[in-house]
Amino acid sequence: MNNFWQELKKSKKNEPILALAPLAGYTDSAFRFICKEFGADVVYSEMASVSALSYKSDKTLKLLKFNKKERPYVVQLFGSDKNQFIKAVKILEKKIKPDGFDINFGCPVRKVLKQGAGSKLMGDLSASREIIEAVLNNTKLSLSIKVRTSAFSVDLIDFLKNISDLPVSALMIHGRSLKQLFSGPIDLELIKESRNYFSGVILANGGIDSLDQARDVYRNTGVDGVAFARGVLGQPWIFSEKFQNVSGDDRKKLAIETALKHLKLVRKNRGEISYNEFKGHLAWYLKDFSGASSLRLKIMLSKSYQEMQEFLSTIEV
Ligand SMILES: Cc1cc2nc3c(=O)[nH]c(=O)nc-3n(C[C@H](O)[C@H](O)[C@H](O)COP(=O)(O)O)c2cc1C
Repeated sequence: MNNFWQELKKSKKNEPILALAPLAGYTDSAFRFICKEFGADVVYSEMASVSALSYKSDKTLKLLKFNKKERPYVVQLFGSDKNQFIKAVKILEKKIKPDGFDINFGCPVRKVLKQGAGSKLMGDLSASREIIEAVLNNTKLSLSIKVRTSAFSVDLIDFLKNISDLPVSALMIHGRSLKQLFSGPIDLELIKESRNYFSGVILANGGIDSLDQARDVYRNTGVDGVAFARGVLGQPWIFSEKFQNVSGDDRKKLAIETALKHLKLVRKNRGEISYNEFKGHLAWYLKDFSGASSLRLKIMLSKSYQEMQEFLSTIEV
């Protein structure tokens, strides 16, 4: 098996591995590329449906394409049908060639739960084990999993005990329960304890918004790294030591410069008609600017990349 995770761990010595967590609607190729340039060690795709992939959905396959500079690149999958997972990894290995696969056991969205996927799958020990085994038996690439601290009646330690004999390479723990959804404290004690039940690479996730905080979590829990999620939106330089303390006008200049670069890349990758999808990112980049609400309105009213680009170029810092 090709296990890039161990190589990554070795290369980092006494520093945390820094991952870009999967974020549906945000972590497309352009954003992953930008994060990689700022120093992300490993990047995840947005979650992709194994059901769509097993029908060779061109749209889904297109969304999973990547630039070689994004490597190591992990494709995250969600679903609940073992055979669809098998089909999906076979298709992706041939057509996309990522470095690893990840299975989503944490998504709390109703539409996903209804399919028996995401957190619902974490709550079913036998189904989750079966799917992990099926993927492991049908790919040469390394497999990681992304979980919560608990889902339904299953907690993280039960979950890890149930798969302790399987060669899963990495584990990303969103340190909140399904009940907490996306807010509230992170259970650092449980993350620390997970080390006793999982021998691969462990990444802590949840509410980590700076490199300093990432290092604190790394030192205090014994994990191998952290994954930034919402903390990276509007500030992908979070991965870079150089920009840790950037503030005031310098920060604004960096935001505009990065937004312009990002915009050009999305436009090139996805074509003119995708401009609406960039509005979310743009609002994050301009979040701390004065008059943010009128800027947001301008973003919402933009009707093309050209308009967004012109508007960004006229913002004075
Ligand atoms: C808009 C949005 C989209 C997300 N999409 C995914 C996804 O596709 N797959 C996944 O495993 N988690 C997804 N997550 C969860 C994040 O990866 C992360 O676990 C969560 O936001 C907690 O980290 P944070 O507090 O640093 O944001 C998403 C979260 C948000 C807010």
